[in-house]
Amino acid sequence: MVLKFSVSILWIQLAWVSTQQLEQSPWFLSIQEGENFTAYCNSSSVFTSLQWYRQDPGEGPVLLVRLVTGGEVKKQKRLTFQFGDARKDSSLHITATQPGDTGLYLCAGAQCS
Ligand SMILES: *[C@@H]1O[C@H](CO)[C@@H](O)[C@H](O)[C@H]1NC(C)=O
Ligand SMILES: *[C@@H]1O[C@H](CO)[C@@H](O)[C@H](O)[C@H]1NC(C)=O
Repeated sequence: MVLKFSVSILWIQLAWVSTQQLEQSPWFLSIQEGENFTAYCNSSSVFTSLQWYRQDPGEGPVLLVRLVTGGEVKKQKRLTFQFGDARKDSSLHITATQPGDTGLYLCAGAQCS
């Protein structure tokens, strides 16, 4: 069975910070059930916090995790979230994907300066 993932960006930015580019990859990915999946959310600037959400069709985004400390790793069953040491990038890793993992995953970064 082939599972379809899509990854998108939700960019939350506080009003006084100038526009920053957030790169997320990959945008769409089809993988075989049982394979691992990794998505990145990278930026050229530092985040004070970074959140990952999951959104299912017809539903609102559901918060999966909030990362605030550089180098932080959080695990939820087969999902591992990691915040880069410099707080400029984050990854979502899914081990041994199952059909129920199919969905839209969003990352949102907040900056405060
Ligand atoms: C995002 O950052 C990670 C960790 O630094 C790096 O391995 C990855 O290649 C980067 N991805 C992109 C698209 O820049
Ligand atoms: C999948 O991820 C797990 C845990 O991160 C790792 O132990 C395993 O070697 C990975 N498998 C593949 C095929 O990359």
